[in-house]
Amino acid sequence: MNKTAIFAHRGASLHYPENTMVAFEAAYKLGADGIEFDVQLSKDLVPVVIHDATLNRTTNGSGYVGAHTVEQLKSLSAGSWFDSAFTEETIPTLEEVLIWASDKEMTLNIELKGAITQRDHVVKTILPLLHEYELTKRVILSSFDHNVIQQALKVAPELESAVIVTAALYKPERYVKEVGVSGYHFMSPLLLEEEAKALIHAGIKIRPYTVNSEGLLKMYMEWECAGIFTDNPKLALQVREQLND
Ligand code: G3P
Ligand code: MG
Repeated sequence: MNKTAIFAHRGASLHYPENTMVAFEAAYKLGADGIEFDVQLSKDLVPVVIHDATLNRTTNGSGYVGAHTVEQLKSLSAGSWFDSAFTEETIPTLEEVLIWASDKEMTLNIELKGAITQRDHVVKTILPLLHEYELTKRVILSSFDHNVIQQALKVAPELESAVIVTAALYKPERYVKEVGVSGYHFMSPLLLEEEAKALIHAGIKIRPYTVNSEGLLKMYMEWECAGIFTDNPKLALQVREQLND
């Protein structure tokens, strides 16, 4: 029985505008095990869900996310760039997503974006929300900024966490242990099968991103990755079902 968890990357972002409630809801309805989304801070230090540092690509606004208050950000459309059918979608706040998720059995992979100079604020604003909505056991914190993850773990060591890497690291299992996380989120295809095996053997949860082809989905499931990030959870669910038939 293959147990690789399927994470909808930025929600079901192949068919819905990324990092919006409609994309998360679609992932939930399809039966994805989790969602991955990107969080950074508004000018007034409210955690909001958007990938890029600027608004230009995925909203009808422009300029830096961090230069806008949450009120300004909420006035923008985060769906019209994708299709006019999604004009009503806005940039979710982290709190909105947590409220939505609180009655659903899904894992939330919160990817911490944002300036490294804001690490303190990120930790101070995000961790209390996870506690408030009692979601600490269903969250995986990850980031390309491994320092912010370490900082968060000092305050909340019980949280599941992962480093995100875009390089084929030398002895990644040693590095992961040193940072103190339990997960290794690697950019596909920057890991060989024997390296994957060594990581799994060391008790590390490996999850590749972003995997959208049938062949690669199948391969990573056969490697028994703990999870997979995909824009197309529907396809990933089909592939897993076939493997388990
Ligand atoms: O968390 C995995 C993946 O989302 C990291 O890359 O740029 O899609 O946020 P990115
Ligand atoms: Mg991400």
